[in-house]
Amino acid sequence: MRRLSVTVVLFVTLSAGATWGRPKPDPAIARGHDTAQRACAACHAVEKGGGESMVPRAVPFASLEMRHTVGLDGRLADLTRKGHYGMPPVALSQGELADLRAYIESLRPR
Ligand code: HEC
Repeated sequence: MRRLSVTVVLFVTLSAGATWGRPKPDPAIARGHDTAQRACAACHAVEKGGGESMVPRAVPFASLEMRHTVGLDGRLADLTRKGHYGMPPVALSQGELADLRAYIESLRPR
């Protein structure tokens, strides 16, 4: 009996360790990446590696400016209602906005 519980404890510890070592990618981040490619990439560089935006003034999503954008939530919500800088309003759901936010946040260096 004692041996069994030692085995169980070992197994649980090891599998938990394996999960901690490799955090699961958040599915919201993957969805946000898709949304960014679909709705934003025409003007912004949206990839993690940065690069040049198609529209020079449009901040790359991985840039410092984007990271420091104050009130990102408000701005994201705004651009679905009013559009911005020549972009017509894009109809994004609350879920898509949350995903976009998760994606942009994920570009921050940790
Ligand atoms: C038609 C081109 C275009 C598209 C499409 C576009 N943007 Fe922009 N965006 C711009 C430009 C240009 C700027 C920078 C304007 C400036 O600050 O001079 C900008 C700035 C921003 C900013 C900085 C803060 C602000 O509001 O000034 C955020 C955040 C942003 N865009 C998010 C997005 C997201 C998210 C999408 C996709 C849903 C998107 N943009 C799609 C052109 C675009």
